[in-house]
Amino acid sequence: MRRKLVVGNWKMHGTQALVSALLEEVIAGTANLSDEVEIAVCPSFLHLELAKELLAGSKIKLGAQDLNAEPDGALTGEVSASMLADFGINFVIVGHSERREVFKETDQLVAAKFAAAQANGLTPLLCIGESLEQRQAQTTEQTVISQLDAVIDRVGIQAFSEAVIAYEPIWAIGTGETASPKQAQEVHWLLRDHLSDQDAAIAGAMRIIYGGSVKADNAKDLFKQADIDGGLIGGASLKAEQFLAICKSADF
Ligand code: PGA
Repeated sequence: MRRKLVVGNWKMHGTQALVSALLEEVIAGTANLSDEVEIAVCPSFLHLELAKELLAGSKIKLGAQDLNAEPDGALTGEVSASMLADFGINFVIVGHSERREVFKETDQLVAAKFAAAQANGLTPLLCIGESLEQRQAQTTEQTVISQLDAVIDRVGIQAFSEAVIAYEPIWAIGTGETASPKQAQEVHWLLRDHLSDQDAAIAGAMRIIYGGSVKADNAKDLFKQADIDGGLIGGASLKAEQFLAICKSADF
């Protein structure tokens, strides 16, 4: 049985005051959730320290939104996997579509980041997903499979025993347009089936979460799908009431 996972991706949002108020409410509101649900938040690098202090003693895990693939070096402004591990980070998002699109990250760079995260004991949360044009051209399947294969080719299927996949259709991110539970389930099944061709046990245990305009009122229908194991939540994770309702939707 796969544990559900709900991750808040705060992106480039928040102040110290917001982080404190938000986490106070989220910690209190998730204290009674069952162990069937795992919760994590990914603040900006600047707010990780404050979040770590506030989360001490709670069940909520701490994640980062990105990392540099290099172990160290003269790379002004960057943060390495070993720095994140040393700091006590659990998860790191890799390959978010905003990184792929805005910062032109290639499949190869995403794979290198995935490998660096794992080599340092972090759980990579690999984001994959198609654009609206790709969906309309009916190339969703080949797009997500090739994004996934770029990482498998680099690290091998065994590495996926310590990873999470997030299927995030780009057309649903921040747009208010969510993939229907059926549309999302179709892709999650495809991904699991593809993993299963290489290792059935890893595929069966793999958590594949959905992201893209998940809200309190659509979360439950998504999370009830057979191959959807939780959510990666952007906008709604910045509002305690919304995020808590989403976390509760995963507890059934
Ligand atoms: P959204 O973002 O929930 O605001 O659509 C999801 C994400 O980018 O991970």
